[in-house]
Amino acid sequence: TTPQLLAGKRVVITAGPTVEAIDPVRYLSNHSTGKMGFALARACVAAGADVILIAGGKVALPTPLNVTRIDVLSAKEMLIAAQQCVDGTHSALQYVPEDEHDHSHDHDHSHQHEHHGECDCGDGHNHSHEIDDKEHAHSENQNVMADIFIATAAVADYRTEEAAPQKIKKTQDAMTISLVKNPDILATISLAHPELFVVGFAAETQDVERYARGKLLSKDLDLIACNDVSRADIGFASDDNAMQVFFSDRYKSEAVTLEKASKDKIAEQLVSIIGQTLVQ
Ligand code: C5P
Repeated sequence: TTPQLLAGKRVVITAGPTVEAIDPVRYLSNHSTGKMGFALARACVAAGADVILIAGGKVALPTPLNVTRIDVLSAKEMLIAAQQCVDGTHSALQYVPEDEHDHSHDHDHSHQHEHHGECDCGDGHNHSHEIDDKEHAHSENQNVMADIFIATAAVADYRTEEAAPQKIKKTQDAMTISLVKNPDILATISLAHPELFVVGFAAETQDVERYARGKLLSKDLDLIACNDVSRADIGFASDDNAMQVFFSDRYKSEAVTLEKASKDKIAEQLVSIIGQTLVQ
């Protein structure tokens, strides 16, 4: 049996790519599949955690059992969802009175939230929130801060400055798309919540340790897991991975190498490392 290393902990995980619209039919994205983040979500549930999985882009994987899944598209939407999930204010986490509970979901406790590009709060969209006072009072009392944030998402570094409102026509021989930098979700969340235990990922092709230690410091992480993406046999769409894990100087832990194994096995090992580091 798996030791319940994360019993009672609330974990928020980002996974998959982000999708940045160019116009209503085209987008910029990357080859991330979300496998590592979904494997981590399963491993965290097995370790007793309460898990919220924010899936970007169009992740095609089934929602792990007993995980609250929130689908978003772009980096901006992922940041808002992550902030609300970490603060415990996301609508998917709010208290639902027993008599209004939709029992059709009860068979597996998994919730699927299809937002398809429109975030549910805070960015000017015209959604109606019909929450009666009683429920509202409950939900305000129920905001639970997350304990652990794990960023596995392959967030697009840049997005289009503004998506064209209509499909762009092929009238010109050449075209230029102007891009602006996306927010760093991991750094934003981490720096805003010093008490949160934060885990980053990095894909490097060279100087793995130097870049990893730089990110540990600049994003104020507790630990970072790095894969060497110059290796063809691991990473991205592969079912296998291999990693080096580096720790913040706050901990006494030496760097750890996780040899090539399935993403499920790697996820289990990472969760056990996270559990052991949390109690240091
Ligand atoms: O700086 P770099 O992109 O290599 O950092 C990778 C780590 O930062 C990953 O954990 C990734 O999920 C996270 N990240 C993020 N938002 C970004 C870029 C990266 O959360 N815009």
